[in-house]
Amino acid sequence: MERKGEVGTGERARFAEDAAVAYQAATLITLRHVTRRYAASGAALDDVSLEIAEREFVAITGPSGCGKSTMMHLIGGLDSPTSGEVIVDGLPLHGASEKELTDYRRHRLGIVFQFFNLLPTMTVTENVCVPLLLQGEPLAAVQAKAAAVIELVGLADRAGHFMHQLSGGQLQRTAIARALVHQPKVLLADEPTGNLDSVSAGQVLELLQKIASQGSTTLVVVTHSEEVARLASRRIRMRDGKILDS
Ligand SMILES: Nc1ncnc2c1ncn2[C@@H]1O[C@H](COP(=O)(O)OP(=O)(O)OP(=O)(O)O)[C@@H](O)[C@H]1O
Ligand SMILES: [Mg+2]
Repeated sequence: MERKGEVGTGERARFAEDAAVAYQAATLITLRHVTRRYAASGAALDDVSLEIAEREFVAITGPSGCGKSTMMHLIGGLDSPTSGEVIVDGLPLHGASEKELTDYRRHRLGIVFQFFNLLPTMTVTENVCVPLLLQGEPLAAVQAKAAAVIELVGLADRAGHFMHQLSGGQLQRTAIARALVHQPKVLLADEPTGNLDSVSAGQVLELLQKIASQGSTTLVVVTHSEEVARLASRRIRMRDGKILDS
């Protein structure tokens, strides 16, 4: 018999259902049986299924050629799977039109490339403003948001510098500022400390930790660095196009 104040079986089942719904709502990235095959080299990703929750900080590790960047490109809507489903923030990327993919990348995604991709003829501020200008925001608002994120990455005293006047770590922090300025739901970083000396890598690590602790962005980071992987709340190990454990 159920006593007053206790949770009955029916109620418990409802709680379980609610929890399941809440869990579904909290899943931001879903890969379902995703395969990416190249004619020249076979399956770079081989039947991978994976869920990443909102606000998670996930590190993806594994040997060279195991499919890490391929997976990032698929989550970033920069490439499409040969088969399977990639769903981010409710949007099925595998079936999306070019316009939907452009909107997705512009509004919901931030990407930090290993080799920066910053525009050399622009200053730090100008580089960081680009994503918001592409969204058509008014200039005054763009400048205020850029200044705030440049402060966040610790480059306020370098805001007017051009790319050739910055160190590797400062370049990488500029790239992170640019990736964050439009407050994306997902930040993808592929080897963010790969080209950096240990001091610069330490600065980028600190920054990633700060972003993770602020908790408004889901962070997916590909890394060979044990230190970066340790910062993450979850590690996904890959080998030969498959996930070993996550
Ligand atoms: N455009 C392409 N054409 C043919 N094969 C490709 C292409 N891109 C990647 N591959 C192959 O797919 C596999 C996975 O590549 P991927 O770039 O995802 O590896 P990775 O895990 O990021 O490696 P690394 O740590 O060296 O960056 C590799 O064997 C690679 O040679
Ligand atoms: Mg790679």
